[in-house]
Amino acid sequence: MKNIAVIGAGTMGNGIAHTFAQSGYKVQLIDISEESLKKGMDTISKNLDRMVAKEKICEDQKNETLENITTFTEISEGVENASLVVEAATENTDLKLKIFRHLDQSTSEDTILATNTSSISITQIASEVSNPERVIGMHFMNPVPVMKLVEIIRGYNTSDEVTKTIMDLSEKLNKVPVEVNDYPGFVANRILMPMINEAIETLYNGVAGVYEIDTVMKLGMAHPMGPLQLADFIGLDVCHSILEVMYDGFKNPKYAPCPLLTNMVRAGKIGVKSGEGFYDYSESRKAEKVSSQFNS
Ligand SMILES: NC(=O)c1ccc[n+]([C@@H]2O[C@H](COP(=O)([O-])OP(=O)(O)OC[C@H]3O[C@@H](n4cnc5c(N)ncnc54)[C@H](O)[C@@H]3O)[C@@H](O)[C@H]2O)c1
Repeated sequence: MKNIAVIGAGTMGNGIAHTFAQSGYKVQLIDISEESLKKGMDTISKNLDRMVAKEKICEDQKNETLENITTFTEISEGVENASLVVEAATENTDLKLKIFRHLDQSTSEDTILATNTSSISITQIASEVSNPERVIGMHFMNPVPVMKLVEIIRGYNTSDEVTKTIMDLSEKLNKVPVEVNDYPGFVANRILMPMINEAIETLYNGVAGVYEIDTVMKLGMAHPMGPLQLADFIGLDVCHSILEVMYDGFKNPKYAPCPLLTNMVRAGKIGVKSGEGFYDYSESRKAEKVSSQFNS
């Protein structure tokens, strides 16, 4: 495997492209938005600068990593010659089904098609492809260059051979792959999202403020980051979509997104990427809590 196509240059896509490129793979990074591609490449460059400053890599390794990445705005051009496609576009079922229908037409039968979806059924996505045994979930964690885990999700039809190839490849990226089965939220988000949703519900009910809730979980449970700040980093839109998928998939009201989360997504306050969520990420007030509205 030499050429890897990554679809989506947002939070996850640029991290996935960075990780493959730093391990020596040629990466074809695809996004419909030129602006996202530019922003994604800037992020990769800044993250590499930070690694150079910390002496984790040298200047030459930074340049080689950047040279390994080429950008595209057309899926058909970007996936040419790719042995593996990792889809990391927006968490939306219809969008992902459409992308995989396109991939079915534009890739050869032996190209492995992976999706970084946080919750959408791998089996459903694979149903858009004429040979679904080549479709698999490759769920990287944020920030990708730092986080060790890759949750590998086998769809109903995913072959043993494809699963082994992707488990081995994840190890070559210096990650730890864990194999799980295809049910809503898989393992990571089935456990994480109800906790985040409950933290938002606790805020919504006026039990405590943003700072208090996050501090209880950080200092009391030894979590490196509070659940509200973690939600800001994941993206409140992404959290909302995952909860909707689990709510729908299990038909269980315990997964219904908290009304405050829904309101914040509708208002465009979706966390770090929009500059404001439970905290303010604007340059002047970096990571201050948004106090007036949410503190009891
Ligand atoms: N944010 C997280 O912490 C996290 C963690 C693990 C997995 N994920 C999953 O990764 C995927 C991407 O999430 P994200 O947080 O990077 O989202 P994001 O909003 O930061 O980025 C999504 C990118 O996809 C692009 N896009 C949309 N439609 C496209 C198309 N048709 N072709 C090509 N590009 C397209 C957008 O322009 C955008 O740049 C989602 O499936 C999400 O569930 C997210």
